Amino acid sequence: MTARTTEKKVAAPRAGAIRAFSYQPGFGNHHTSEALPGALPVGRNSPQKCPYGLYAEQLSGTAFTAPRAANRRTWMYRIRPSVMHQPFRRVDDRLLTNEFGSVPATPNQLRWDPFPIPSSATDFVDGLVTMAGNGGPDAQSGCGIHIYAANQSMTDRFLYDADGELLIVPQQGRLVVATELGVLDAEPCEIVVIPRGVRFRVELPEGASRGYVCENFGSPFRLPDLGPIGSNGLANPRDFLAPVAAYEDRTARFELVAKFMGHLWAAEIGHSPLDVVAWHGNHVPYKYDLRRFNTIGSISYDHPDPSIFLVLQSVSDTPGVDSIDFVIFPPRWLVMQNTFRPPWFHRNIAAEFMGLIQGVYDAKAQGFLPGGASLHNCMSGHGPDAETFERASNADLANPDVIKDTMAFMFETRLAIRPTRYALEAAELQADYYQCWQGLKKHFDPRKP
Ligand SMILES: [Fe+2]
Repeated sequence: MTARTTEKKVAAPRAGAIRAFSYQPGFGNHHTSEALPGALPVGRNSPQKCPYGLYAEQLSGTAFTAPRAANRRTWMYRIRPSVMHQPFRRVDDRLLTNEFGSVPATPNQLRWDPFPIPSSATDFVDGLVTMAGNGGPDAQSGCGIHIYAANQSMTDRFLYDADGELLIVPQQGRLVVATELGVLDAEPCEIVVIPRGVRFRVELPEGASRGYVCENFGSPFRLPDLGPIGSNGLANPRDFLAPVAAYEDRTARFELVAKFMGHLWAAEIGHSPLDVVAWHGNHVPYKYDLRRFNTIGSISYDHPDPSIFLVLQSVSDTPGVDSIDFVIFPPRWLVMQNTFRPPWFHRNIAAEFMGLIQGVYDAKAQGFLPGGASLHNCMSGHGPDAETFERASNADLANPDVIKDTMAFMFETRLAIRPTRYALEAAELQADYYQCWQGLKKHFDPRKP
């Protein structure tokens, strides 16, 4: 039966109640869970009559015939089937979009100050603002990059995203994500991944909250192969936690919001869609604590490519070329000798959208702040700022650099990233970002090899 690894009790958002969270460990596992004893049918998926009068329903996250290693699906045993709702109608998308070509993409290096938390009542759905993206949901390729800034729990409404999987990176404020398959909690430095199609509600037990979302239109995130690193390292499978079954038997006038083909639609629904009493499968939401990442680096010289910081990847049809890499820059020691230790200057075919969860990023002495963002696009040069270059070029390498208070991340994509009009016209866009490199001195002297 269900393996319960961790149980943590925190205050629930309403009435001071205490809510406990239980999880099952393992990435991509075929989990089983039941909130009532015997609710999960034994030996078959679709019995003539399900226990407790439940309805059986399958949710497929990959093609039926996808290879076994890539196949994702979950069987749910629920109070009512998901089809029971009124017709959807288009609702205002606000600043959420999947149209990435409406303004010309710029090769300029871009950086934004932290985005403000709204002062009026705003929940997770209304607080989503699209910064950039590429590809689109109709081609099931590429990603949308969003910021959320909200101050209120979703109460009587639920969301699902048919366009992609949602990788949520909280930066400020804890999240409680109640899903069809159970409840997850996450604080900054943890991530939550909601599979395509899974219905959920986001509660904000601490009120003001902000973070980043990568909406993955392509293949579901997976753990990368480790090659010569061996059988352990980077993000370890057992540190990924899936919820246990937890159902709501509530009838009221609720709203079900669907994100479909780049737009939001809403339907009235007379019951909570989080009514799954038992389930089994591997198309499941999960959380991961980024502080558990096993960070690997050079212990001789030079700085390896940032692929050593890869947490999750969405693979493309081309071997070795990912649609999305989710990469982190966590606390670590830099010990390389006769080496410039911060990230080197570089231009990549990949496009890099970065955010900072906490602390300071080691390639930028200032200007890149928690809750802010940067975008360095295909073949746009970037690297350490002038202050960081001078400091690192003259540092005493007899001592290690102990990088402590930090957690930066990157959504790195195969396709160039197109910023939205909102992102390019935002007050938070730093017009003087390029200045951080203008102070780099000319050190060249042909007489001094
Ligand atoms: Fe870069």
